[in-house]
Amino acid sequence: MNISRTDAKRLLRQNSVFVNGKAVSKAEISVDTDKDSVTVSGKEIVYKKYIYIMMNKPKGVVSATEDGRDITVLDILPEHLRRNGLFPAGRLDKDTTGFVLITDDGAFAHNMLSPAHHIEKTYTVGIEEKVTPEDEKRFFEGMEIGGELFRPAKLRFLYRADEDKLYYYEIKITEGRYHQIKRMFASTGKPVIELRRTHLGSLSLDSALKPGEAREITEIELKKILP
Ligand code: URA
Repeated sequence: MNISRTDAKRLLRQNSVFVNGKAVSKAEISVDTDKDSVTVSGKEIVYKKYIYIMMNKPKGVVSATEDGRDITVLDILPEHLRRNGLFPAGRLDKDTTGFVLITDDGAFAHNMLSPAHHIEKTYTVGIEEKVTPEDEKRFFEGMEIGGELFRPAKLRFLYRADEDKLYYYEIKITEGRYHQIKRMFASTGKPVIELRRTHLGSLSLDSALKPGEAREITEIELKKILP
């Protein structure tokens, strides 16, 4: 249950909040989240130290906490999911869509993003021509671009779309370098036209989330990102 401060004050006034069986009406009371039992309107409240949110990022929104010019993923977060300390774990470009994880758990974000953990990030990429067997080899073996070495990526042809005439591929990478996928494809002479992140680890973006929508990630789902 996520409740706003205003709602919390109303519930306190209504004597709906109980700590260890005793009704409380003041917000100032301190609670030990490990020991004390808190119920609201008869329901036990389970205290969650951190929150993990999946968002289907639309185009034109930046993955940052603040931006003087552009709308950020935090700006479009629904009220009931907001709390202090949230940030997007990793960046998608402004024109990239799809799965962004927003959390207030710095250690989790660090582990998810650390190349040492090899967490796969899966994207769907739209390009104007098919990749050649030589390009494929470069993706599979790991490519060098301007002296920088990129780890091997898994690449798989998905389909050709009638509407935009683009060839769509699935690509899985385990790093998250600046413009990584765009740079990898650009180095094969095939600029990325569409880019969408579909999975973090083995957790897929919920297909029920429309662009700009977000929901909390369950504990079971979280293990699919970082086992
Ligand atoms: N690679 C890119 O080039 N852009 C993104 O947004 C994500 C991965």
